[in-house]
Amino acid sequence: MASHLVLLLIISFVFSTSSSSPSPRFPRQTLQSRARTQPSRGGDRNSYRYETKYFSQQLDHFSFADLPKFSQRYLINSDHWTGASELGPIFLYCGNEGDIEWFATNSGFIWEIAPKFGALLVFPEHRYYGESMPYGNREEAYKNATTLSYLTTEQALADFAVFVTDLKRNLSAEASPVVLFGGSYGGSKSKKESYECFFFFLGVSLLLLIDAMLLTVLAAWMRLKYPHIAIGALASSAPILQFEDLVPPQTFYDIVSNDFKRESSSCFSTIKDSWDAIIAEGEKENGLQQLSKTFHFCRALNSTDDLSGWLDSAYSYLAMVDYPYAADFMMPLPGHPIKEVCRKIDGASSDASILERIYAGVSVYYNYTGKVGCFELDDDPHGLDGWNWQACTEMVMPMSSSQENSMFTTYDFNYSSYKEDCWNTFGVNPRPRWVTTELGGHDIETTLKSFGSNIIFSNGLLDPWSGGSVLKNLSSTIVALVTEEGGHHLDLRPSTPEDPKWLVEQREAEIRLIQEWIRTYRLEKVAQFSLLKSSW
Ligand SMILES: *[C@@H]1O[C@H](CO)[C@@H](O)[C@H](O)[C@H]1NC(C)=O
Ligand SMILES: *[C@@H]1O[C@H](CO)[C@@H](O)[C@H](O)[C@H]1NC(C)=O
Repeated sequence: MASHLVLLLIISFVFSTSSSSPSPRFPRQTLQSRARTQPSRGGDRNSYRYETKYFSQQLDHFSFADLPKFSQRYLINSDHWTGASELGPIFLYCGNEGDIEWFATNSGFIWEIAPKFGALLVFPEHRYYGESMPYGNREEAYKNATTLSYLTTEQALADFAVFVTDLKRNLSAEASPVVLFGGSYGGSKSKKESYECFFFFLGVSLLLLIDAMLLTVLAAWMRLKYPHIAIGALASSAPILQFEDLVPPQTFYDIVSNDFKRESSSCFSTIKDSWDAIIAEGEKENGLQQLSKTFHFCRALNSTDDLSGWLDSAYSYLAMVDYPYAADFMMPLPGHPIKEVCRKIDGASSDASILERIYAGVSVYYNYTGKVGCFELDDDPHGLDGWNWQACTEMVMPMSSSQENSMFTTYDFNYSSYKEDCWNTFGVNPRPRWVTTELGGHDIETTLKSFGSNIIFSNGLLDPWSGGSVLKNLSSTIVALVTEEGGHHLDLRPSTPEDPKWLVEQREAEIRLIQEWIRTYRLEKVAQFSLLKSSW
């Protein structure tokens, strides 16, 4: 356990900003990315049994150039499948940035409902992550902008489409309905070998953020892009609107901040005041050393930015996983962890300094077990990783931090410095409008209403990603399931005895909707079939 924590911490700080501007943590947005860490119990691991297989994929679905293929890994479980003749459904989990095994074993909900649906489960891995590496290995795949150029959302979606079409053909299950799931919990085992799983921009450990987002977004997009491939999608915590100016750029940090404010306004204020206190301390003689001591880092800090990034990540991650019961997937945390952090911050002895309070609070996140002796910040820049690449090409998610509502340092997203960082890192220029051009986003309501169907957008309002998602029903089949006290795709986690009623109800609603999609689909199939027969 302790080693897990340490790993997590090591993961921290990779990309300590190369940018010239003063504090802009590189893509401030990558806050979203971050560290995933330790596989944590998402239910009983032994209950996740699957076969691991490989499928030969096109490197480029959109040209006919004779490029080498690559091997896409997928996991499959057919224990409960009722089979092709019964139109047994296929549940496809859209793999995201990371090792697919980790995601598969952290999506207990899908495993739990498979028997009820008689469903086949498949978990195809996302290209360029885990074992699904083009060019034979990670090093070649991540070599430069040319080799990375096939790491795009469109290619990944096409992988899923080609994969499931082929799988159905092999199983003679062309008529079986496919339901998509997206949601994930970051996680990976050990730092080095699972580098690919992580997107460390600024350092720190919110891996979860991103995969969370990418994955879930993929399920929704897949449904929109390939309506003939899948009959519906459950997109849990999918911020499909976190692009361009679709939602205000302060949304994410405002929600994080509110999660703290609702617990305690003095806690909120202490955090808000701490950023200046950190800078002031850092400017003193031996200040960085003193800070390293206060925060128990194993080695001296190089800059106060490193510390701020470390804290920033902890708060953001806490907001995502502010779950009603104790959980342990990135970090072992108590139930309602923000309440606990604020209890420490507010409850410190009256002569404690701001920074001592902050340390006491953040220790709930980084060291709940109390086993970590000192914290590591790995500031060895490692720009070439999958999420960073995606953030520098299509996934430009502007993030700012407002002066009024945020407890973070005021920050305005600055596209030109973002772009410059991308150029310096990858030799690539982002195309911030491409995602919305390709997949939509502007006035999504009208669009989805008139041509979409069968998507569940599930969100917990404590999750800062909920601000970029769809929070109201758009039609009778494009449904928002919103829970006020929910966190980041809590619904996809395995059920536990401590599940509050609203969570149980949310999952039940999801099951009912999916049942309805499948029922409707089957009725239509049967109708087609009898029509066919009667025309003979
Ligand atoms: C990237 O590496 C490949 C293979 O070594 C090479 O052919 C290509 O020219 C390189 N591209 C860039 C942009 O450096
Ligand atoms: C379908 O079968 C072919 C031939 O055995 C195999 O090469 C391919 O990988 C299979 N497709 C999937 C998705 O497993």
